Amino acid sequence: MAGEGIMAGVRLDGIVKAYGAVQVVHGIDLEVAPGQFVVLVGPSGCGKSTTLRMIAGLEEISDGALSIDGRHMNRVAPKDRDVAMVFQNYALYPHLNVADNIAFGLRIRKAPKDEIARQVKDVGGILGLTDYLDRRPADLSGGQRQRVAMGRAIVRQPKVFLFDEPLSNLDAKLRTQMRAEIKRLHKRLGATSIYVTHDQVEAMTLADRIVVMHDGRIEQIGTPMELFLNPANTFVAGFLGAPPMNMIDARIVDGTDAPIAEFGGQRLRMPDLAALRNATGRDVILGVRPEFVDVSEGQTPDHIAIDVDLVETLGSEALVHATLDGKPFVIRTETMGRAHTLEQVSGFAVAPHLIRVFDAATGAALPGQVHDR
Ligand SMILES: Nc1ncnc2c1ncn2[C@@H]1O[C@H](COP(=O)(O)OP(=O)(O)OP(=O)(O)O)[C@@H](O)[C@H]1O
Ligand SMILES: [Mg+2]
Repeated sequence: MAGEGIMAGVRLDGIVKAYGAVQVVHGIDLEVAPGQFVVLVGPSGCGKSTTLRMIAGLEEISDGALSIDGRHMNRVAPKDRDVAMVFQNYALYPHLNVADNIAFGLRIRKAPKDEIARQVKDVGGILGLTDYLDRRPADLSGGQRQRVAMGRAIVRQPKVFLFDEPLSNLDAKLRTQMRAEIKRLHKRLGATSIYVTHDQVEAMTLADRIVVMHDGRIEQIGTPMELFLNPANTFVAGFLGAPPMNMIDARIVDGTDAPIAEFGGQRLRMPDLAALRNATGRDVILGVRPEFVDVSEGQTPDHIAIDVDLVETLGSEALVHATLDGKPFVIRTETMGRAHTLEQVSGFAVAPHLIRVFDAATGAALPGQVHDR
């Protein structure tokens, strides 16, 4: 079957991209294990596509070293790198039908006719395109076109799959569906994949490991849950999660053994961190996930007052939009038949160990915080 036993690792050592005097990728180190699904995620312009295109050979590498399957690739032509790329705009041949689009790369390589026919049948079956093999791309839906583009990549049996925002031309429903299909496909083929997106939900759901990029640099690499629970800095904390982590500017007011932070006249117990002992007066940013707070009423020591201004009901869950110390604060909570009472919420409680504490000056997470809820 296509894809079996052809996995390869990919390694980037200090990869730099400069356009003339302007450097846009500033030295990326990344190791992708054979068979892994790695997602590069970050805001527009952070260098995701440029990095992917350097791996594909579509952009020259300005500095650093790229290897695929242990082989140095900097100067190897794209067609000899044994990678296949799937693009946002599908890049199908409009005058060829689905079968011929899928077979295109095999014909170029002069594969035997019966081999081509077998591959087109196999891959068409995997991708649910069996009934569409005679159609032209113009007569397909966006999702079907994207499947053809993937089929074309799969039949080449590349060592590495590269995806650049393959789903961003699809509507929300189709995107969710195709996301699951890509995941299934990866489970089935096990091929090394590097996938670029600016959509953090895609990153969270697809990745074995996520690489968060920002301004041409890597902010953090980890599994989706590692990044969700233990973001290394406020950038990662604010980028992953929907809605993202709430941030509160606070100051440590009591730095004895059970540190306490204050903001807008309210006080909150902090997690027990060495960095917060004897830290009275230290400015910090408190990260609180919308999912990690408890809106049950009652005055606990960890109760924080908020002003609710809007409740959005999503069905089984609701988003409670509030103001805390003059800034937005969002809570994500189960509705369980109390949607109408959520407007009356006056505050929340949060367990100290679920609060993430960042240095106010650098945005870096204080050391010693690891939790694995
Ligand atoms: N040919 C070029 N000449 C000069 N600068 C370029 C060129 N191509 C890209 N850049 C710049 O390099 C930076 C990274 O671009 P890149 O396309 O890699 O971003 P991206 O993360 O893929 O963004 P998006 O999510 O919008 O696709 C951007 O600031 C972009 O303007
Ligand atoms: Mg891009």
